[in-house]
Amino acid sequence: MSVQTKIYEGKAKILYTTHDPEILLADFKDDATAFNAQKRGSIQGKGNINNIISSKLFQQLEARGIKTHYIDSPAPNQMRVKALKILPLEVVVRNIAAGSLCKQTGLAVGTVLKQPLVEFYYKNDELGDPLLTGDRLFLLELATPEQVDTITHLALQINKFLCDFFRRCDITLVDFKLEFGLDSQQQLLLADEISPDTCRLWDNSAVRDPNLRVLDKDRFRQDLGNVENAYQEVLQRVLKAVESN
Ligand code: TMP
Ligand code: ASP
Repeated sequence: MSVQTKIYEGKAKILYTTHDPEILLADFKDDATAFNAQKRGSIQGKGNINNIISSKLFQQLEARGIKTHYIDSPAPNQMRVKALKILPLEVVVRNIAAGSLCKQTGLAVGTVLKQPLVEFYYKNDELGDPLLTGDRLFLLELATPEQVDTITHLALQINKFLCDFFRRCDITLVDFKLEFGLDSQQQLLLADEISPDTCRLWDNSAVRDPNLRVLDKDRFRQDLGNVENAYQEVLQRVLKAVESN
């Protein structure tokens, strides 16, 4: 394939080929969507911010032995990544009840979970990314039992690291979404991004105020305003925490 052919455009990123078939270039966009793209908009600077935050977090995870698709970041909104076969799963880890967990169970927003909850959703826009049962996941052959075990273990390890990391940013990690993929040796790697688009992040200095505390994409989803400022704030705190490591 020729250099820099667009091979995929998602809601937040465009993927290009490179001279090396094992390497892709991810271009992070400012476009923002919510509710399966029924709500569309743009968050100025988001592409740069999400790429920088994700790159830093992937580097930190790699340093702790967790394998990711991250290679390097040649430009503020670009990440070179290993070419993977992405599993059609959205793996959500929750520490505090929010979002769809509250809508579907009646749990009050902010309820601290006794232990982290790991959930698997079917990554399928046409179906609206439905929550899977284990049996449905295997029925659809979305992953093997061994892969599900490995992903669950990795997701909990990543949660532990991210909770500690964001605590140092004076931020509570409420929940987040991960994606995984297989490389050419069938090795399972963490993929996609970890950013204010894919995490719920609450500012500890305003943790009781349901508007002020929100430092993530819920500001866009719920029209809370000051979206750009919140993303910038997370970036500054992440960079400071990385520097003081
Ligand atoms: P949820 O409460 O809406 O299920 O979201 C759980 C977490 O997953 C939250 O941190 C936001 C993130 N998320 C995504 O990254 N992409 C999505 O499409 C959705 C619905 C949620
Ligand atoms: N991924 C969602 C969408 O499909 C956005 C979200 O709620 O994070 O638009």
